[in-house]
Amino acid sequence: MKKDIEELIETVKSSNKYRNIHTGLVEHIAEAELNKGRSWKDTVKAVRSKLHQVGAAYQPQPIHYEQLVEIMETLPKDLHHPAVKAFCQQAMQQHASTRERLPFLEQFYQQLFSPLAPIDSLMDVACGLNPLALPWMSLPVECKITVCDIYTDQIEFLNRFFDYFSINGKAGFCDLTLTIPKEAVQVALVLKTIPCLEQVDKEIGARLLAGLPAENLIVSFPSKSLGGKVKGMRQHYAAHFNQMVALFPWQVTLLPFDNEDVYLIQK
Ligand SMILES: C[S@@+](CC[C@H](N)C(=O)[O-])C[C@H]1O[C@@H](n2cnc3c(N)ncnc32)[C@H](O)[C@@H]1O
Repeated sequence: MKKDIEELIETVKSSNKYRNIHTGLVEHIAEAELNKGRSWKDTVKAVRSKLHQVGAAYQPQPIHYEQLVEIMETLPKDLHHPAVKAFCQQAMQQHASTRERLPFLEQFYQQLFSPLAPIDSLMDVACGLNPLALPWMSLPVECKITVCDIYTDQIEFLNRFFDYFSINGKAGFCDLTLTIPKEAVQVALVLKTIPCLEQVDKEIGARLLAGLPAENLIVSFPSKSLGGKVKGMRQHYAAHFNQMVALFPWQVTLLPFDNEDVYLIQK
């Protein structure tokens, strides 16, 4: 069995598309799929398909982080310099989630963060490339930033980004379906992530929201599919979210954006 798992992980990760997904998550999904008693070929396919749904679908082209680092290191070290902002925008284009947010990025963080300012600690779980939106967040320089996701190359890049611009930030691996971060923060971002996590664990949404030790949670859901279809998603996720928070005595405010519905929760 141990050999099967190791071989399955190795086979899944032999494809470029899945190579940089943290082995911890591949192992978690591989174990679940191996228990379903399918053929080897179908098991490999099922693990890859799950990894596609939760992560790879948002990065349709490989992201060449080494090239991004090369460009970054030619830039001035001021996060608000126009050339740095242009670099961050171009990089955010490469991840579907941040790309969709670019047309209203300025307004997004202005509306979400100004009622909470000054923010002294921020966590961004399943962050994707969203930490590159820091130039638009107007956070105090000393703000402590903790971000996590499942891609090892992305985590390494984000740590290089934090170092280069002297940001008090740390990126790391997380599998939110297994472990919820324990660090207490003023604000936690859970942007467009719950539907992905639910591909692996149907109950994770409420558990994550209840478990994150944040004074304020900013939670969002897409209102269009990756292909741009509307398909009643807004209503579907609104009903789902309301069900998740119904049991908690939290103050919840809805802020609708063009393709993303955001809920501000004061715990
Ligand atoms: C729809 S994207 C959202 C990215 C980012 N929050 C944003 O809104 O720009 C979902 C993210 O969840 C990450 N992810 C998927 N499964 C995860 C897991 N089990 N634990 C942590 N992150 C996960 C993916 O890699 C991807 O970056």
